[in-house]
Amino acid sequence: MLRVNKISITQYKNYDFAAFDLTERVIGICGLNGMGKTNLLDAIYYCCFTKSYFTKTDALTVQFSKDGFRLEAMLENNAVPEKLVCIHRGVGKKELLLNDVAYEKMSQHIGKFPAVMVAPDDIELVTGGGEERRRYMDTVISQMDAGYLLQLIQYNKVLQQRNSLLKRFAEQGKTDWPLLEVLDEQLVAPGNFIYNQRKQFTADLIPLVQQFYNQIAGNNETVTLQYESQLNNSDLAAVLNNWRQKDFILQRTNGGIHKDDIAMQLNGQLFKNTASQGQRKSLLFALKLAEFELLKRNKGFAPLLFLDDVFEKLDDNRMQHLLAWVCNENTGQVFITDTHRERLQQAFNSLAVKYQLIELPQ
Ligand SMILES: Nc1ncnc2c1ncn2[C@@H]1O[C@H](COP(=O)(O)OP(=O)(O)O)[C@@H](O)[C@H]1O
Ligand SMILES: [Mg+2]
Repeated sequence: MLRVNKISITQYKNYDFAAFDLTERVIGICGLNGMGKTNLLDAIYYCCFTKSYFTKTDALTVQFSKDGFRLEAMLENNAVPEKLVCIHRGVGKKELLLNDVAYEKMSQHIGKFPAVMVAPDDIELVTGGGEERRRYMDTVISQMDAGYLLQLIQYNKVLQQRNSLLKRFAEQGKTDWPLLEVLDEQLVAPGNFIYNQRKQFTADLIPLVQQFYNQIAGNNETVTLQYESQLNNSDLAAVLNNWRQKDFILQRTNGGIHKDDIAMQLNGQLFKNTASQGQRKSLLFALKLAEFELLKRNKGFAPLLFLDDVFEKLDDNRMQHLLAWVCNENTGQVFITDTHRERLQQAFNSLAVKYQLIELPQ
């Protein structure tokens, strides 16, 4: 079992310095808005992913007017203690040490401490564009297969080069097809690899999402999910070839796995167009719990689970279904934030679960 026993936070977001002993499997974090509940979750998340869940650029996670931050987490996995230190020293300089040994590459750490976050803005996963769902797939698969992340980095690098080349063609008013073909060849291997991984992943994922959806919503509605990719019908080399003229005109690459999506329907209609708010939230949780379940199967232990302000998001019935699963059926460590202390305590008490309550500010 994976557990965080302690987190020390220095100059990360609103935390000047703070240390938290985490003594239970179920941890409630409460406090008024702006007190640092989300930031506390994010600090632990950072130790798992070497990046913030909420803030895209590292520089903005450093406390305002400071030069860097330091995070130190004491964890245990199957009773083996692990110490993770992350030091950020201003622009571009980041160090990550596991048990005092520095990683050469941050990507080597991904998947070591698997974790799943559920936060209010995540509803974009259901209502937003394909980019959201690609990021979702990438985050989960990267934790299960270290090779995936490397292939993805490679694919994106070549894709960028290819797009620059297409721009240059337009500027110069002439094409150099052989040069483009060199890049196409470099795209094909990582592209096909990513496609196959996503295909396998969604095949495992989709039945779980459907099951969790019905469990949370407490009904038998049919949600239909489908992995959409141009590579479903032909391999990447052929896809690139088909788009070539159009790529030249539009000056960017139109074919490839960077156009993938997961199509979602409810009773035969586009989900985001027909679903109620409650249904959307149910699907979001279903996607997150399915992610959790797949990671757990892959790792052989439960990932960390972060639920940020979920009480604001669901009606009482759905909330009860969800919390019962999270606290009682799930065996992993879970962190739940809420602005209302009483509401949180009441929910835990009604489930008869042992918990620790952290009240902010400390
Ligand atoms: N880089 C930063 N430096 C200092 N304070 C920050 C930084 N980023 C965010 N904050 C502050 O953190 C606070 C929000 O914390 P947050 O964890 O979102 O609160 P909560 O989840 O309890 O509502 C805000 O007051 C915000 O100004
Ligand atoms: Mg918050």
